[in-house]
Amino acid sequence: MAADGPRDAAFDVAVIGAGAAGMMCAAVAGQRGRRVVLIDHARRLAEKIRISGGGRCNFTNRDAGPANFISGNPHFCRSALSRYTPRDFLALVARHRIAWHEKHRGQLFCDESSEDIIRMLRAECDAGGVAWRMPCTVESVERGDAGFMLRTSSGAIGAERVVIATGGLPVAQIGASDFGLRIARQFGLKIVEPRPALVPLTFDAASWQPFVPLAGVALEVDIRTGSGRGAASFREDLLFTHRGLSGPAVLQISSYWQPGEPIVIDLAPDVDLVADLLAAKAGGRQHLANVLAGMVPRRLAEQWLAAAHPGLGEQRIADLPDKALRQVAEGMKRWTLTPSGTEGYRKAEVMRGGVDTRGLDQQTMEAKAVPGLHFIGEVVDVTGWLGGYNFQWAWASGVACGQAV
Ligand code: FDA
Repeated sequence: MAADGPRDAAFDVAVIGAGAAGMMCAAVAGQRGRRVVLIDHARRLAEKIRISGGGRCNFTNRDAGPANFISGNPHFCRSALSRYTPRDFLALVARHRIAWHEKHRGQLFCDESSEDIIRMLRAECDAGGVAWRMPCTVESVERGDAGFMLRTSSGAIGAERVVIATGGLPVAQIGASDFGLRIARQFGLKIVEPRPALVPLTFDAASWQPFVPLAGVALEVDIRTGSGRGAASFREDLLFTHRGLSGPAVLQISSYWQPGEPIVIDLAPDVDLVADLLAAKAGGRQHLANVLAGMVPRRLAEQWLAAAHPGLGEQRIADLPDKALRQVAEGMKRWTLTPSGTEGYRKAEVMRGGVDTRGLDQQTMEAKAVPGLHFIGEVVDVTGWLGGYNFQWAWASGVACGQAV
């Protein structure tokens, strides 16, 4: 996208980062009559939207509310989320005649392609007369008496207000950077330690070795971690991989998992395994692995038994003591394991942590100590669950800021 306008220019608002939050903010501010410039260093527009939801963009969740977000300051997101709801975004999608469908649990996806959402945001920016600088690198942001001065690869840009919408650290290959965190530090804002979230969990190679044959097995589980106020649990699909665990269940719990802590998985959430195994014992001539294969997926029954209780699966259930059956059942109902780490920012869908919300105004996203400097979207310490929540935060924080700048 070519830069438009003079090389050195002055605007009311400079938005840095033309992703989900940045485009939404620029469009809203522009349509209010503000002179807005939108700056991005990437060659291709909004790559994260493009690859999201498997190319169909899970653009919101019907049920999104503050309880679906993690933050050091859980109340911070309330105001923006209540002022711009999934219904508001759906109205915008309807105005642009984008066809969509609900997958499950309130997750809304484009029927055709995530390109539809990018085109919609582009059109909204055009309607607001937004000027573009892209690709354009921002070398410095300085604050003076009359606002901010940006030194960029497209010349100097003066702006009364600056909005940082440069997203989180995941997937550097498509333009993610720590720019937002650096600017926050430069202006003295606190940062909540960032970490990969919505990310597969890994285990040390030796302890995972027995479970490697399960790679590819998927099933619905209950999964939990933490205790007290830090406790979280989900019922979702789990996927075994060569290096550890993935699938929606694990991505969800990874956002709550603390290094060194265990996770607990119920591999047969709708089955009373203790009662069923003991009942199957009466007159049972089958091997334990075969009996278990009637209760959970066969590969899981066989390989999990082989890994956790070597030799037991090939024994006839009638020959096994109740105690052993209880151990197997309880082991599957409360499989407790401690990940060694995560697949990191390369595979994470979002960053947990970011700009500490205690330093931001929840109505306007403005830094309390730096008038005119705003932070929106993923760079802020508000992290949504898997399922369209992170985009809803991008839209809602973008609109809140766009109405204020
Ligand atoms: P976003 O990342 O969208 O935009 C940031 C922009 O800033 C980018 O255009 C980048 O190029 C630019 N930028 C970065 N550094 C810069 C710098 N130094 N100078 C200038 N520009 C800079 N969420 C969801 O709700 N539903 C979903 O289906 C998915 N799916 C999904 C799949 C995958 C693979 C990933 C990695 C992530 C998702 N997400 C998701 C998460 C979602 O994509 C993410 O939370 C939002 O895009 C965040 O919006 P932002 O606008 O904050 O950042």
